[in-house]
Amino acid sequence: MGGKLLPSLTFLRYNRRVNNGALGIFDSGVGGLTVVRAVQALLPAENIVYLGDTARVPYGSKSPETIRRFSDEDARYLLTKNVKAIVVACNTATAHALPALQQQYRIPVVGVIEAGVEAVLADPQAERIGIIATRGTIASHAYQHALALRRTGMMIVAQPTPLLVPLIEENWLDHQATRSILETYLQPILEKGIDTLLLACTHYPLLIPILKEMVGDRVRIVDSATTCALHLQSELTRLDMLADSSQTGSLEIGLTDLSEQFEILAKRFLHKTPPRIKRVEL
Ligand code: DGL
Repeated sequence: MGGKLLPSLTFLRYNRRVNNGALGIFDSGVGGLTVVRAVQALLPAENIVYLGDTARVPYGSKSPETIRRFSDEDARYLLTKNVKAIVVACNTATAHALPALQQQYRIPVVGVIEAGVEAVLADPQAERIGIIATRGTIASHAYQHALALRRTGMMIVAQPTPLLVPLIEENWLDHQATRSILETYLQPILEKGIDTLLLACTHYPLLIPILKEMVGDRVRIVDSATTCALHLQSELTRLDMLADSSQTGSLEIGLTDLSEQFEILAKRFLHKTPPRIKRVEL
């Protein structure tokens, strides 16, 4: 009997060691801390290693090849930290690099698109969808394809909104300039009578208050940060990879470039003072 028990005990111990290993979360910069915040709120026992590629941000205006190369380097850095799974918090990186990363690495690699799409489709009435995101994400058609494949007859309006990231980073969340730019961006979407607005960028959750005001009650707003955390929870549960719930998870943040501005932004995206941020080399 002892002989039979031994392998399963070893497996259990191995499993616990793996499960208490960190989740690796990466983004082009500090915006992905919106995802970290959502993951910490939902899965407080998880240890997290966050990488923000601030030396090369933004990814949203770069070519697919460059985004794939950068994303691969980000993932490789996280693997040196022995992470148990990788979360691609950046919409642009998910749009262009997720399939390649999933093929290349043996640990689970989760992106934000599947989660956002699932959240949209959770409403059986959703059929007129507006998507706002970086140029790169919209040009990839990743969200548009994923939605159209899963529910036929949907009307999808996808609008690149490249000016929003700089405005959010300036903290112009309720500024007249932001309202006016949003009006211009939203007009062609709202004209189509959308029922759902998908915020397909790490930064956009910070605009939810002003967006709610502008689109009104009849439009449901879905953001990729909270939906990603929910998707991650169900994936980790399905794979039996959740951390030991009795522990309090840790957070380590590494950025490829460190400046006072990035520290200020990190605090704003995380909604709390971050732990000491390290500068890392990829
Ligand atoms: N993190 C990016 C995204 O979610 C926005 C910032 C950038 O362009 O790199 O698409």
